[in-house]
Amino acid sequence: MNILLLGSGGREHALAWKLAQSPSCKRLYAAPGNPGIAAHADLVDLNLLDHAAVIAFCQTNGIGLVVVGPEQPLVEGIADSLRAVGIPVFGPGKEAAQLEGSKAFTKAVCDEAGIPTAGYARCESFAEALAVIGDFGLPVVIKADGLAAGKGVIIAETAEQAHAALEDMFDGAFGAAGARVVIEEFLTGEEVSFFALTDGVNVVPFGSAQDHKRVGDGDTGPNTGGMGAYSPAKILTPALEADVMERIVLPTVRTLAERGTPYVGVLYAGLMLTPTGPQLIEYNARFGDPECQVLMMRLEDDLVELLLAVAEGRLSGLSARLSDAPAITVVMAAHGYPGTPEKGAIITLPTAPDDVMIFHAGTAIHDGELVASGGRVLNVTATARTLAQARADAYLTVDKIAFPGGFCRRDIGWRELARSAH
Ligand code: AMP
Ligand code: GLY
Repeated sequence: MNILLLGSGGREHALAWKLAQSPSCKRLYAAPGNPGIAAHADLVDLNLLDHAAVIAFCQTNGIGLVVVGPEQPLVEGIADSLRAVGIPVFGPGKEAAQLEGSKAFTKAVCDEAGIPTAGYARCESFAEALAVIGDFGLPVVIKADGLAAGKGVIIAETAEQAHAALEDMFDGAFGAAGARVVIEEFLTGEEVSFFALTDGVNVVPFGSAQDHKRVGDGDTGPNTGGMGAYSPAKILTPALEADVMERIVLPTVRTLAERGTPYVGVLYAGLMLTPTGPQLIEYNARFGDPECQVLMMRLEDDLVELLLAVAEGRLSGLSARLSDAPAITVVMAAHGYPGTPEKGAIITLPTAPDDVMIFHAGTAIHDGELVASGGRVLNVTATARTLAQARADAYLTVDKIAFPGGFCRRDIGWRELARSAH
């Protein structure tokens, strides 16, 4: 079968690597892809906003499965357009993708299904927000409702900060995404990510991971898209995972099916493990980046078979086998990230040993040289018998990469390693 993968980051490189290994993958295309993905796929230049063009490409090239990596095309309804003409697609339609596209939408689903999540208020104006903000105590969490590239969440420690954040959002600091604001109770605990595949009815657990959102060692400095991850996150014990499935994931899938807008794809639950049990912080309508890289490293099953079963509503009776061996990924970012990253540094990559992959996240070819072209540039991903060994292997490869101005965190996996040391 021919497959089209949409996206261009480290997540998509990991997906391409795994899709290309499947005996049922005849030809893999990626739009737009990147130089790392080019090792596994033919890159094609498609405007993802032009659904007719994407459909025409699929029809001309006999595409039997479209895999959508990032959230933006999902929220813009690419999956609906493809499904309408009978092309199997891995990824939710526009309405179900609102689980990521609108925080107020997710809260309404939580209300309807009794899902544990932080108490909240949905506000359409500054005056409305001011009237309720005092009910939440401090710190208080203020979120732009819509997609804001991971930047629309402010944790205000003081009433003044909360006031200023609300003013900014209603003033358009996040554009249309901030026209509506969700104010939330602050939850305490450790964060963990949990993934599940669903065809709209059947749900298959797809493992846990822990991201590292802050730019600096010891979880300091500004937030990023994620500086590294490991999987499994053992803090999500089998008992907690069963609880998350029962009280969070299954009720969500059921509610969307009942509404007539079934969720088809991977559901990524961002969870807070609070003293009173797991609570949902947010949903994403796609694999995490860089969490996908560690999940793909652990996946023992045929990715094409699984994603096609999701797309065709045949997930019943299937499961996903992930290796017991842990995996870790270290993000190498360009100088300046998460502010304005410096572009153009020339990168020289070593040959990675077995069980280590260097996924490309933000690279380009310029005058025949591999250069940095984004904030997060490379994801060095390793698997080994223990997390400590996987981490040592990943950093050994990191240290062989020539990338002027490139940097990474040196402590990925620290929470898990501190736990296993006791
Ligand atoms: P989100 O984009 O909703 O995942 O929020 C980004 C980050 O803000 C999360 O990963 C958490 O670290 C933090 N956060 C969001 N909501 C809450 C909450 N209700 N309580 C505490 N921290 C939160
Ligand atoms: N790593 C966080 C995300 O993919 O949203």
